Amino acid sequence: MIQNKTILTGVKATGDGLHIGNYFGAIRPLLEIAPGNTTYLMIPDLHSLTSVHSAETLRQNKRNIFSQYLSFFPENCEIIVFEQSSLARHNDIVWVLNSATPYSLMLRAHAFKDSQAKNSEINMAVFNYPILMAADILNFDAHYVPVGKDQKQHIEFARDIAGNFHKLYNCEIFTFPEALITEEVEVIPWTDGRKMSKSYNNFIGIFDDEKTVKKKIASIVTDTTPLEEAKNPDTCNVFALIKLLAPQEEANTIAQKYREGWYGYGHAKKDLERIFLVYFSDARKKYADFQKDDTQVVERIQKWNAIAQTVVNKKYDAIAKAVGLL
Ligand code: ADP
Ligand code: TRP
Repeated sequence: MIQNKTILTGVKATGDGLHIGNYFGAIRPLLEIAPGNTTYLMIPDLHSLTSVHSAETLRQNKRNIFSQYLSFFPENCEIIVFEQSSLARHNDIVWVLNSATPYSLMLRAHAFKDSQAKNSEINMAVFNYPILMAADILNFDAHYVPVGKDQKQHIEFARDIAGNFHKLYNCEIFTFPEALITEEVEVIPWTDGRKMSKSYNNFIGIFDDEKTVKKKIASIVTDTTPLEEAKNPDTCNVFALIKLLAPQEEANTIAQKYREGWYGYGHAKKDLERIFLVYFSDARKKYADFQKDDTQVVERIQKWNAIAQTVVNKKYDAIAKAVGLL
């Protein structure tokens, strides 16, 4: 059991808010591990700038994601939520790390290569993205970083960047972080074999309105086995989500129905819709309340930003001394 450690993760405020993949890949593991540890959940809004180029959209996305994060928190939750861009000196640290990180290391980045392959025009921040993320993690001396599998290389980079820095300046000021990847949910799948992702617009948003949830579930691709025939739950995309969200016993009952026949994909989708709404009902209710009035959320974030700032100030001093800026 992990205790007395520092845990940190973040989910970008792009797209339309948190989806099932984000929840199981990053948020739920964070909530589970939080008791007994110092836990941070950041809003990496500087990272969002790589892809969001509308001020109003970014502002709105951020406001939504603040409330969404807090909607998952139980009473007496001690997780500290903060905005990356509020931290003075954070980007100074990023610059120092940029200057101490070999270009050849960054050329290995899978995420950069993917973006380059997909987009004809990408910005410099996409290339430097892992260094900013390394600073997020290293500034807080995070021991563990709960993320989905796609982020594994970013955590390895953070370790490499810390190691390079230590060697270059003959010091030991960073903690080496480890990715915390929950194996069974490392990639929440979607219909086409790719992971559920805002980037592929193939996600079910946890806070989507019921109509949208219904539409998204209806669009999950299934095979063409006729209603009366037996079906294999283990190869069905709808069942993959049912299994994730339903209590074990209910999932077993539904799997049995698949195997017996006369249970169609339409039935399965109806079941999934109901199970989804039950699973996330508390969070959705809290979010609806925050949508009406989020003053409390904004106040709490400001308080937390100040706490996070004290951590970064200390780290900046250590780094600036190590490199000679101080
Ligand atoms: P997206 O791919 O939708 O843009 P992000 O890149 O913002 O999501 O991911 C935020 C966090 O959620 C990361 O830790 C990421 O690994 C995790 N995550 C995203 N999609 C999935 C998924 N389908 N399965 C598991 N974890 C995921
Ligand atoms: N790159 C992460 C993502 O796309 C978001 C992120 C930014 C992050 N900084 C972080 C995650 C620090 C964990 C720790 O999801």
